[in-house]
Amino acid sequence: MFDYHARPGLLRDRVLVVTGAGDGIGRAAALAYARHGATVVLVGRTRRKLEDTYDAITAANGPEPAIYPLNLDGAAPKDYADLARVVEAEFGAVHGLLNNAGVLGPRTPLAQFNPSEWDRVLRINLTSQFLLTQALLPVLAAAPRASVVFTSSGVGRVGRAYWGAYSVSKFGVEALTQIWADELENISSIRINAINPGATRTEMRAAAYPGESPDENPAPDDIMPLYLYLMGDDSVDCNGRSLDAQRGAPGDT
Ligand SMILES: NC(=O)c1ccc[n+]([C@@H]2O[C@H](COP(=O)([O-])OP(=O)(O)OC[C@H]3O[C@@H](n4cnc5c(N)ncnc54)[C@H](OP(=O)(O)O)[C@@H]3O)[C@@H](O)[C@H]2O)c1
Repeated sequence: MFDYHARPGLLRDRVLVVTGAGDGIGRAAALAYARHGATVVLVGRTRRKLEDTYDAITAANGPEPAIYPLNLDGAAPKDYADLARVVEAEFGAVHGLLNNAGVLGPRTPLAQFNPSEWDRVLRINLTSQFLLTQALLPVLAAAPRASVVFTSSGVGRVGRAYWGAYSVSKFGVEALTQIWADELENISSIRINAINPGATRTEMRAAAYPGESPDENPAPDDIMPLYLYLMGDDSVDCNGRSLDAQRGAPGDT
């Protein structure tokens, strides 16, 4: 998958929802999906950043995207149901969902971990992904060969000191992926997989490793082959997997 080359029209006529589409990996994925023909619904916290992604897509003559600002911290089930209803009414279908938005949270020992920060990180990184996927499931099920992609991490597979709620949230994401893939295997054509991006040059990586030179890590654009592979029909037989976007070590963030 590291050397996967997506054909230009891979995602033509697809409607894809991307969370955290205003920055980092989510922005790169939204641009890559649009470049390959998809209409992308840009979900995220900061409207200005979503507008920047919108402008970049239209400047590259991609299909006109849609902007859906939503703060995943504090969004209620009704907010996710509203999103699903609005997107279905506007586009008639949803063929894919990239659950990408996330926060790092405190890097402190569990013994000192602030309980409200614990709740916040789990709400944004795990509960929101569950609620959004649950809300979109009926419309995804109505599309042929829909794909849901969760975003994991190296510390979602092996626990490490000081990664606290972030690590726990990513273990939860791995579990969500496996459980949902197993539940849907024989009753739906939806496939559910997870990506571990590996160390990638973003704001989150810089916050986690302030001493690291950003040039040490690939840019979000460099890890797009797996993001494209999992959203397009070349991955129809891939279900319940957690895949690395980069060769070598899984990376920590
Ligand atoms: N970069 C890495 O090395 C690495 C490694 C492993 C896993 N990951 C995972 O990859 C995903 C993307 O990370 P990234 O590195 O691209 O991070 P990033 O540059 O910090 O981007 C995170 C995105 O999530 C959005 N977001 C955060 N809180 C939100 C909220 N409450 N509501 C809505 N949107 C919210 C942000 O929107 P605003 O900018 O508007 O706040 C931003 O668009 C995350 O799930 C992360 O855990 C990253």
